[in-house]
Amino acid sequence: MKHIPVWIDCDTGVDDAVALMLAHALPQLDLCGISVVCGNTTLENAFRNTHRINGLMGTDYPVYRGAEKPLLKELRISNAFHGENGLGNVELPLPENAVDHAEKAWDALFACASSHPGELRLVATGPLTNIATAFTKYPALPGLLHSLTLMGGSAGAGNITPAAEFNFYTDPQAAAMVFRSGVPIVMCGLDVTLQAFLTPVDLDELASSGTRAGVFTKACLQPALESSKLYNLTGVCMHDSCPIMYLAHPELFEGEEAGVVIETRGTVTNGKSVTDLYSDKQFPFKNALVLLRVDRDRFISILKKSILSI
Ligand code: RIB
Ligand code: CA
Repeated sequence: MKHIPVWIDCDTGVDDAVALMLAHALPQLDLCGISVVCGNTTLENAFRNTHRINGLMGTDYPVYRGAEKPLLKELRISNAFHGENGLGNVELPLPENAVDHAEKAWDALFACASSHPGELRLVATGPLTNIATAFTKYPALPGLLHSLTLMGGSAGAGNITPAAEFNFYTDPQAAAMVFRSGVPIVMCGLDVTLQAFLTPVDLDELASSGTRAGVFTKACLQPALESSKLYNLTGVCMHDSCPIMYLAHPELFEGEEAGVVIETRGTVTNGKSVTDLYSDKQFPFKNALVLLRVDRDRFISILKKSILSI
């Protein structure tokens, strides 16, 4: 039964959309609220896309707007993976019951954490701008949360630059603040998320089910599949489903405690998550559990079963 309270902060693009469906479908997770941030697309489009996924699922999870730009950098949207509209150019209707909450993301998140002291699992699948803003406005928030499980960074190479992963690169200042905040962090970086991919055969299986969620998942991931082929990847990485899956099935993952610092001033390394996992020189702290391996077969089996249950 749904006993793990969860709040998702996302920049609803295509893999965020799949992660939202997974969070809704997993029986262990109780999705309390969703906040949106700019990143894959504009804030307004992420807001509308999230409501579109509500409509697809027949749900009315509350959705709150957060930051429309990173703390310092200008917003740079990448359409290759997510399509022009952020949902792989698939047109989904906006549900008529979509509530336009005036409350900002950070205020709604703090209220929710305050009503679940020590229990709320915060998940971030986009740039950390909203989280950093929330922690600044409410210094007690890091201590109120059970944990922050996020998709971002990497101990190895980047994807938006050779050094940096997209979410951290988009707002390095926010990422640096969050990793200094003291909140217990589980970091799902590219090291593990690149292992969690759906193949074209998986996508065909989802679509041939004839369910709305299955058909949508294949359709919205087509631009991502094409751009993944350019990098010789054999499928579409479900980056943002990793933190969600970890909360319900931690047994699928392996990782190590590490010291993680975000580079905010470099040019070539801007946004890089520097970890002490592989160096004899260690940081004087361990501020994150960095996930490194996942049982892909079991991950994908649970993901497909979850999507097909909607
Ligand atoms: O680097 C992958 C991350 O960037 C994912 O969260 C994806 O949605 C994009 O935001
Ligand atoms: Ca995302």
